[in-house]
Amino acid sequence: MQAMKAIRSVTLVVVLSLVLAECRHRRRRNEYPDPPPKTKGVPWPMPAQYSTSPLVFHVDGLNFEFVATGKTCITLEEAFRRYYKIIFGNDNNSGTRWNRHDDDGDDDEVVVKNISVNVHECEDVYPTPSSDESYELKLSSTTQSLTSSSVWGALRGLETFSQIVYRNDVGAYIVNETTISDSPRFGYRGIFIDTSLHYIPVFILLQNLDAMAYNKMNVFHWHITDDTSFPYVSKTFPSLSQQGAYSPYNHVYTQDDIRTVLEYARLRGIRVMMEFDMPGHSLAWRAIPDLLARCYDGSTPTGQLGPMDPTLETTYTFLREFFKEWTETFPDSYLHLGGDEVDMRCWENNPRIREFMEKMGYHDDYTRLQQYFFNTVLEELSILFPSRKTLVWQDTIDVNVKVPNTTIVEIWKDMDPGYREELAKTTSLGYTTLLSACWYLNYITVNISTTIHWPDYYLCDPHDFDGTEAQKKLVIGGEACMWTEFVDGTNVIPRLWPRAAAAAERLWSPQSIRDIEEAAPRIEEHRCRMLRRGIQAEPINGPGFCEEEVTNH
Ligand SMILES: *[C@@H]1O[C@H](CO)[C@@H](O)[C@H](O)[C@H]1NC(C)=O
Ligand SMILES: *[C@@H]1O[C@H](CO)[C@@H](O)[C@H](O)[C@H]1NC(C)=O
Ligand SMILES: *[C@@H]1O[C@H](CO)[C@@H](O)[C@H](O)[C@H]1NC(C)=O
Ligand SMILES: *[C@@H]1O[C@H](CO)[C@@H](O)[C@H](O)[C@H]1NC(C)=O
Ligand SMILES: *[C@@H]1O[C@H](CO)[C@@H](O)[C@H](O)[C@H]1NC(C)=O
Repeated sequence: MQAMKAIRSVTLVVVLSLVLAECRHRRRRNEYPDPPPKTKGVPWPMPAQYSTSPLVFHVDGLNFEFVATGKTCITLEEAFRRYYKIIFGNDNNSGTRWNRHDDDGDDDEVVVKNISVNVHECEDVYPTPSSDESYELKLSSTTQSLTSSSVWGALRGLETFSQIVYRNDVGAYIVNETTISDSPRFGYRGIFIDTSLHYIPVFILLQNLDAMAYNKMNVFHWHITDDTSFPYVSKTFPSLSQQGAYSPYNHVYTQDDIRTVLEYARLRGIRVMMEFDMPGHSLAWRAIPDLLARCYDGSTPTGQLGPMDPTLETTYTFLREFFKEWTETFPDSYLHLGGDEVDMRCWENNPRIREFMEKMGYHDDYTRLQQYFFNTVLEELSILFPSRKTLVWQDTIDVNVKVPNTTIVEIWKDMDPGYREELAKTTSLGYTTLLSACWYLNYITVNISTTIHWPDYYLCDPHDFDGTEAQKKLVIGGEACMWTEFVDGTNVIPRLWPRAAAAAERLWSPQSIRDIEEAAPRIEEHRCRMLRRGIQAEPINGPGFCEEEVTNH
């Protein structure tokens, strides 16, 4: 017995020392000889046209003003307040820093005391798919101005301005002579977050909206429900979250929470596109009687439930009411209906559904039942809410369900035959298309701790497929996705950022901007910039440091 124990502990020691040796071995490996280089005051994502000179101007942080010389509105004034704090901070450092500079007695140099912000149309409305985000930014010895046709362009320009002002060696704020003319390559630049597999607290969602604004991303795709939980507190059907949320008290999004998120996003020029996934991934909707198909074993119900039951009129009566609330609560013109991974087994073993199939002449082809569901739902939607557009995941098209050619299809699968083939297919069928397949940031490959990964996300291009110019035009952009099987409020931000920034530049900047060597020092600066602004963005370039590490604000 004693001998056995001794052998066991010897074995343990040997195994442990092997493990430790392995750890040390890794730590000593000289894979990253120098800390990654960082730019200073260079923007991310790279503007469409960008030129700078070595001439620098001091920026008077203490007295600095944004001067609206065109139209103004609350959205713009709020942005002035936000960006003042982002650039110069909350504390009164700006005063002391500035005074320190003032003492050097150089009276000739140009001091930037204000920037004139000339917006042609300023309205406190929600951004839309056709919002104009272009802007011009000029900082020269004679002109300091930001010009845009809409307030959304001004927001993007203010973000750029906040990135190109930086601190010199003695801490004074400076900016290089700069001329920028900028507009996005794609109109849809999104972040997808699932809040059903795990609940994500509202303040984290807001923090993510900040991070999106720092990366000029403009759509928050909110996958709010799934099989696992129904956190949305419906006005019309409160039982959905009472029975479907992880907890009806502290794992829900109330109408108040929703308004908070919508307004926070709006002020940052971000659309909130809701996804209520159907007819599959809907087990959490079980509070609605008869909505979900009953599963059978022979002629006996098993007590389990499947996807929504497409054969009952009551399903559509309910959905009509639900869509009414959806469109009244959420202003965005896009409605994402999901349509992914419909598990048809409970349709197949349900005797009444089989009877319906026979009556309709569908034989054993249950994708035709899915087709029937989407036909019915999409037709209702187009009649009741003609100004809304619907989106579905690629699965719907993959099983040959025909949806109207106005439907937008989202590509998420990167397995055989691969997303390039899918892009070619959906666009050849005439569908407007959105790419997320190469930006599934919840996938963590085994070697993420030893390899620099962001270039994979950076180099994935939504136009990288065989197709005509007309087909390429159908691709409206893409989004980085965060499914939350293993993610919640503790890790959603560092798991998304700054890797999502790689997608952000791909979607904003011209196609030709794809030089990893050039981008690396910029994304390194950008990661530190996000950290300084309170976003806990993880390291992505190996050992190194930021001037300001994780902050507590
Ligand atoms: C800004 O000016 C400094 C000093 O002349 C120069 O070293 C730096 O490269 C310039 N930065 C940019 C982005 O042009
Ligand atoms: C900031 O500091 C400066 C210089 O120390 C001082 O003159 C100024 O009144 C301070 N401003 C505020 C708002 O505290
Ligand atoms: C903005 O700054 C310029 C240069 O310092 C100055 O001439 C101008 O009066 C300022 N404009 C406003 C509205 O403060
Ligand atoms: C879409 O379908 C409608 C009729 O269903 C047709 O009139 C239109 O030309 C189609 N558009 C495209 C781009 O295929
Ligand atoms: C890291 O993982 C990827 C994907 O699994 C693989 O293709 C690559 O070869 C791995 N690299 C190293 C250095 O292990």
